Amino acid sequence: MLDSLSKVSKKVVSVVGARPQFIKLAPLSREFRKSGFNEVIVHTGQHYDENMSDLFFKELEIPKPDYNLGIGSGSHGEQTGKMLIALEEVLIKERPDLVIVYGDTNSTLAGALCASKLHIKLAHVEAGLRSFNKNMPEEINRIVADHLSDILFVPTQTAVENLKREGITDGVYLVGDLMFDALMHFSRTSELKSKILEILNLAPKSYYLATIHRAENTDNYERLKGILEALSRLDKLVVFPVHPRTRNKIKDYHLESLLEKLLVIDPVGYLDMIQLEKHAKIILTDSGGVQKEAFWLKVPCITLRDETEWVETIRYGWNRLVGADRDKIVEAVLNIKSGENIDFSGEYSAPKICKVLEEVV
Ligand code: UD1
Ligand code: UDP
Repeated sequence: MLDSLSKVSKKVVSVVGARPQFIKLAPLSREFRKSGFNEVIVHTGQHYDENMSDLFFKELEIPKPDYNLGIGSGSHGEQTGKMLIALEEVLIKERPDLVIVYGDTNSTLAGALCASKLHIKLAHVEAGLRSFNKNMPEEINRIVADHLSDILFVPTQTAVENLKREGITDGVYLVGDLMFDALMHFSRTSELKSKILEILNLAPKSYYLATIHRAENTDNYERLKGILEALSRLDKLVVFPVHPRTRNKIKDYHLESLLEKLLVIDPVGYLDMIQLEKHAKIILTDSGGVQKEAFWLKVPCITLRDETEWVETIRYGWNRLVGADRDKIVEAVLNIKSGENIDFSGEYSAPKICKVLEEVV
């Protein structure tokens, strides 16, 4: 009785704002509700299109956010600054026992800064990842979040070691990956509900799947052109759900003609995305989440970046770092190989996170 009372009294604020954060939140939010935590969801509004935001809450059965700050798009300073102002008000009103931030977006940075300035305990999910490239906004966001956090939920042993090198050893918990929980949980539902292959008239393994949205690719004319030229020269149809940032940049750079041979579609929901990933012959991406999903689904992946945080995907042979050079991408597709046959069955991350929080918050 006392135990359940103490759990009920724990108020946890989750700060999310971008597509991959909704996917990470889904399994943890379900576990919070099961374990009797008092969960408050704050959506910063960083992503706001229906198919970048609401669709995920619906499909993944995440409760409607308690607050939507409606911040929207903007430069880094403007977006993060507006988030800080709005978040401060919410956190002062809610007075939670803990704030949780996820991943490495500007919403992560704002949540981390705001909580620590208010002396509220802070947990970072997906802590310890490093690309060692500070030109990436994500690298700055994750370094700050890690150094401010009291509790660091780490997905891989590599991430534990990255933190150790920066002197962070207290409060570090190796708990696996919430994105793995989500993939396992929604795999069957996706199989049953998604009609995306029929709608697009795609036979399994007859196509490649591509996603691009990293600023280092989209905001650089040469890199974006190199990638799109490569995609239009491949020997199979390329299905390309286009992130809004990428759509805007293709227009700004007048690169639309390079889309003619591709199957260009709007961003899809998570259930459709799992089917597209699972049945692709190869995935080409610069997304962190998509690299991991390719690995867990055992679909060979070509990463359109010069470095990756998810080094295990490379080590086990499922991922190849190729960058943005047209010829190198085409060559990588021609020489693609499968990786080691790893057994991914294992424990889920969300129950481990809740157990730690029950003990330390
Ligand atoms: C953000 C994250 C990135 C993450 C990605 C996931 C930062 C700095 N970057 O990048 O780490 O991998 O989310 O997808 O936080 N836009 C729309 N509709 C939307 C959202 C965005 O049209 O619903 C357009 C706007 O023109 C906006 C641009 O996309 O300026 C970029 O959006 P933003 O949230 O700033 O960054 P992402 O590229 O989405
Ligand atoms: N995703 C999706 N629909 C899409 C593209 C991606 O549901 O059209 C999912 C994908 O399966 C993964 C997550 O979004 O779970 C990855 O998010 P994103 O690539 O935007 O960001 P990153 O992981 O690079 O931060």
